[in-house]
Amino acid sequence: MQNFHYNIPTQIYFGKGQIENLGENLKKISDKVLLVYGGGSIKKIGLYDKVCEQLKKAGIEWKELAGVEPNPRIESVRKGVETCHQHGLTAVLAVGGGSTIDCSKIIASGVCYEGDPWDQVLDRNKITKALPVAAVLTLAATGSEMDGFAVISDLTKNEKWGSGNDLTKPVFSILDPEYTYSVSAYQTAAGTADIMSHTFENYFNQEKGAYLQARFCEGILKTCIKYAPIALEDPKNYEARANLMWASSMAINGICSYGENTAWSVHPMEHELSAFYDITHGVGLAILTPNWMEYVLNEDTLWKFVEYGKNVWGIHEGSDMDIAHAAIQKTREFFKSLNLPSSLHEIDIDETHFNVMAQKAADGGLQNGFVALSAEDVKKIFKMAL
Ligand code: NZQ
Ligand code: ZN
Repeated sequence: MQNFHYNIPTQIYFGKGQIENLGENLKKISDKVLLVYGGGSIKKIGLYDKVCEQLKKAGIEWKELAGVEPNPRIESVRKGVETCHQHGLTAVLAVGGGSTIDCSKIIASGVCYEGDPWDQVLDRNKITKALPVAAVLTLAATGSEMDGFAVISDLTKNEKWGSGNDLTKPVFSILDPEYTYSVSAYQTAAGTADIMSHTFENYFNQEKGAYLQARFCEGILKTCIKYAPIALEDPKNYEARANLMWASSMAINGICSYGENTAWSVHPMEHELSAFYDITHGVGLAILTPNWMEYVLNEDTLWKFVEYGKNVWGIHEGSDMDIAHAAIQKTREFFKSLNLPSSLHEIDIDETHFNVMAQKAADGGLQNGFVALSAEDVKKIFKMAL
C-alpha cells in the first residue's frame, strides 16, 4: 500500500428528515447564498419548498440559478458566477444530482477567479480559492456530494472535462434517500452504472497491497448488484435507495483509492461520447465497461479479473481465464438486466467521430491507466462497443 493523505472533509447528514439541518448549518458559512438546481424535479417532489423554508427560517438571503442541464454547460457556470458577483453572494447551495453539484462547484471557484471559469475546467490548478459549497443530493450516481470533482461541458466545442480539487469539496451534504424515490428507472440504472464504474476505476489497478481498499470496492459492487434491481422494481424501497445513495458517495470519495495509483480509463472514453453526443454519462459507461474489460484482459491482468469473478460474482468453476470471461459476461448481463443499452448503435452513435474522440481521450492520460491505452486502443474499444 502506498502512502496517502486522507482528506474527506464533507460532513454528511444521512437519512429521513435530515433537511432540518440545512438552515442552521448553512448559516454558519454564509447568510447570502446562490441556490442552484436543475430542470424542475426538486419542485415536483416538494424539496424546493422545504429548502426555501429552511433558508427563511435561518434568515439567509438567496438568489437562484435554475435550469442547470444534465452534462452541465459552462454557460450556466458563467451565469452563476455573474449572479454571485452582482449580489455579493458568499456560498453556493446545490440541490439536485451530480450536474447541479458540479456546476455549483465551478461557480464557487469561478467567483474567486479573475478570468473565465472555463480556464479552471481545463486546468484545476487554477482553482486556488472557492466559495464554500453545500449540497442536497437527489440522485445516487456521481458521488459529487462528497468529492471535489466537477465535470463541465462546452458543447460548442464538443469538450467535456473533469476539474475540481480539495477546495471544491462540499462543506456538508444532505443525503435523504427519500428524495431519490422519484428518480426514473432510466436514471436509477444509469446512476448505478456510474457508481459501479467509479468502483471499477478504483478496483482495477496494479497495486496488490491495498487489500482493504479492494474489499471496500467489492462491497460497493455487491451493494449495487443487490439493490439496483430492487430500486427498479420498487422505487420507494428505502433500504435499496439508502444503500445506493451511500454507495454513490463511498465509490469516489477517496476511501477506495487511497494507497493506490488509480488513473481512470473508462471515464475519459465516456466523456468523449458525452461531449460529442450529449448522452447520459452512466449509459455510456455501461456500454463501454464490458468492452474495456475484455480488451484489457491478458495474462498480466488476469489475477485481478479472477479476484473480481470470485469475490463479486461468486464464480469458482473453471480455469482462471474461464472465471475472468464469465465475470465480464456477468457484468454485461447485469447492465442489460437494468434495461441499459449495450451498444453504441442503440444510442445512435456511429464511427463518425471515433478518430478525434479516441485521440482526445488518450491525450487525457490513458497511458497511466490499469493497462496503458493509446488512441488506437481506444478506437478499437469504441468499435467493439458498436
Ligand atoms: O434537472 P432535473 O429536473 O433536476 O432532473 C434531473 C436530470 O434530468 C433528474 N433528477 C435528478 N434528481 C431527480 C431527478 N428526477 C426525478 N427525481 C429526482 N430526485 O435526473 C436527470 C439527470 O440528472 P444529473 O444531475 O445530470 O445526473 P447525475 O447525477 O448522473 O450527474 C451526471 C453528471 O455528473 C458528471 C457526469 O459526467 C455528468 O455530467 N460526473 C460527475 C462526477 C463527480 N463530480 O465526481 C463524476 C462522474 O464520473 C461524472 O462524470
Ligand atoms: Zn462517473
